[in-house]
Amino acid sequence: MSGVSASAAVETDTIRSALRMAKASLRRSDTADLDAEILLAQLLDVDRAFLHAHGEYALDVAQTRAFQSMLERRAAGEPIAYIIGEKGFYDLDLLVTPAVLIPRPETELLLEEALRLTTSVPAASIADIGTGSGALAIALARQRPRCRVYATDISADALAIARQNATGHDAAVAFFGGNLAGPLIDRGIKVDLLLANLPYIASADLKTLEVGRWEPRLALDGGADGLSLIRELLCQLPSVCKPGAHVLLEIGASQGAALRQLLRDRLRADADVLPDYAGFDRIVRFAVN
Ligand SMILES: C[S@@+](CC[C@H](N)C(=O)[O-])C[C@H]1O[C@@H](n2cnc3c(N)ncnc32)[C@H](O)[C@@H]1O
Repeated sequence: MSGVSASAAVETDTIRSALRMAKASLRRSDTADLDAEILLAQLLDVDRAFLHAHGEYALDVAQTRAFQSMLERRAAGEPIAYIIGEKGFYDLDLLVTPAVLIPRPETELLLEEALRLTTSVPAASIADIGTGSGALAIALARQRPRCRVYATDISADALAIARQNATGHDAAVAFFGGNLAGPLIDRGIKVDLLLANLPYIASADLKTLEVGRWEPRLALDGGADGLSLIRELLCQLPSVCKPGAHVLLEIGASQGAALRQLLRDRLRADADVLPDYAGFDRIVRFAVN
């Protein structure tokens, strides 16, 4: 929603008038009404139904100013999740800051496939490589409490957020800082299931994308063809996967064929490419022998 204007003054005195002005000021966004309500509900620490039921509630000066500042950030294109500091993923509310990728709905497909693969392996060891906010690792640890869940990230700032999220959700995840699966290999840890949503956008494409303005480059930039980190991870797999371990990788919308070829060449593995709800390549699934 770049280019949205926040020019309208927000002379708020009640919830009703604040919302009316906010919706006008975000009018170039497709989601102006929803955005305005989410921001005000977060600021007042109420749910959206409260806003509709209590339109006469009077905002004080500090609340009015804080709301105006939120609207300006949103009008400049900043994602709602960074403004309010949280994002829903599966059944979790996760803290997010600009140090972590905002978890995406399509990544829930990776989680669902991981849950399916572990249904009959209740005590599996699982690794989430490039954990970011901890979304996948924490959801898995909660859904599969008998599994041992490990997670890595190269970003210390991301790991700090992931640890906070794990604590907040009482999830038992062992977090390690370092390159890809390196920290697990160094400790001799081998897993039955490895999942990774690593950066997979080609560097040149990233320059043209709105996400590149807000979300960490470290979470998005997959090198010249988008597959640099995935290639590097493939080299590590024999050292971190038990024989027959399953691997799930999130990939870009048109990377399925390239990945299948890569897996044949590097690991002699036959991969399945699973589509997302829009029909695009989204997950590569294979076994390491
Ligand atoms: C696309 S984000 C995914 C975050 C999270 N797993 C999710 O699905 O929302 C990729 C993550 O990989 C991390 N990362 C990038 N390069 C890495 C590397 N060489 N080793 C470990 N993690 C890395 C980034 O810091 C970022 O948190």
